[in-house]
Amino acid sequence: MRQPAHGGNLAWAAALAGCPPAAILDFSASISPLGPPNSAIAAIQSQIGNLRHYPDPNYSELRLALSHFHQLPFEWILPGNGSAELLTLVGRELAELAATVLITPAFGDYYRTLSAYNAQVLEFPVDWESAANLSSFLDKGSKDFQDMGLLLNNPQNPTGKLFLRESILPYLDQFALVVVDEAFMDFLSPDEEQSLIALVQEYDNLVVLRSLTKFYSLPGLRLGYAIAHPDRLSKWQLWRDPWPVNTLAAAAAIAALQDREFQQQTWLWLPPARTQLLGGLAAIPGLHPKNSAANFLLVESNQSISQLQQQLLTYHQILIRDCLSFKELGDRFFRVAVRTQADNQRLLTALNSVITAEC
Ligand SMILES: Cc1ncc(COP(=O)(O)O)c(C=O)c1O
Repeated sequence: MRQPAHGGNLAWAAALAGCPPAAILDFSASISPLGPPNSAIAAIQSQIGNLRHYPDPNYSELRLALSHFHQLPFEWILPGNGSAELLTLVGRELAELAATVLITPAFGDYYRTLSAYNAQVLEFPVDWESAANLSSFLDKGSKDFQDMGLLLNNPQNPTGKLFLRESILPYLDQFALVVVDEAFMDFLSPDEEQSLIALVQEYDNLVVLRSLTKFYSLPGLRLGYAIAHPDRLSKWQLWRDPWPVNTLAAAAAIAALQDREFQQQTWLWLPPARTQLLGGLAAIPGLHPKNSAANFLLVESNQSISQLQQQLLTYHQILIRDCLSFKELGDRFFRVAVRTQADNQRLLTALNSVITAEC
């Protein structure tokens, strides 16, 4: 079986570990350990009888729920079959421009969609040392971006970096199109988040993508949405299949968005669990975790990760995400999701035993 280029491939991990997929403790996919919310599961169950009908092609109820959630008119919101589907539409749009700027290391799916439409890619390496300032490295080449697009991930997968809203703003005037993938932004509490959603109505060249996958732990359901000018969204609707979002996903999303208790629980869980994991990783000889604003940590290691990954799987049934698919990172980095404190401790104990056995 081939090495997966995305986290969460439990079939591959189970074959290596010689155990059933359900026995694997998965740190490789950056999914919240708290979900899915009971409210979303109940909504799915309540809709089973409606599977005999097509979904509403306009997704009016879902768009209304999103419109309440983000305080935006519902014409500015387009639900999709995960944000991956919307990234495909974004790729087609970006390919019409001279080039697309990516901050690297970048999420692998950006390369998938951009190469599918033969878009030119211009890569700018992230500045590891700088704080949350986009301009510190994007301005280094002092390029003219007027006929280009910017595809930015905030917070960024896999580095965990958060770019401040103010540091992105100047680029809205410099680029023909700015797409901000905020798949992990909901993990930041309302007083910390740096979303550009509130600015979409001011800039018709701004697109924000959101996902329910990570925060609500619903990767199997497929639900994301784009926020952008209604003319752009109407055009996209003509480019894609009808009914991309199924009835169960639409109902689950409406319930999840209204579940304020689940949202509060997540904001309470993440900061101490991430501090515990960061501190525990930093205390292991040869591991250097990076600070992160999201629900995952990127870790640099003095030793080969392929070997470490295999040992964790074989001896502890724990899966971590190697970074071989990020060409800038290679075999000296891995990424782990932040899980419950008990799971995090299991990972730390396993890493300690594997690494100290090596020394
Ligand atoms: C940065 C980023 N954007 C988008 C996605 C796609 O999420 P989904 O299609 O499940 O909404 C992922 C999934 O790994 C991601 O890491």
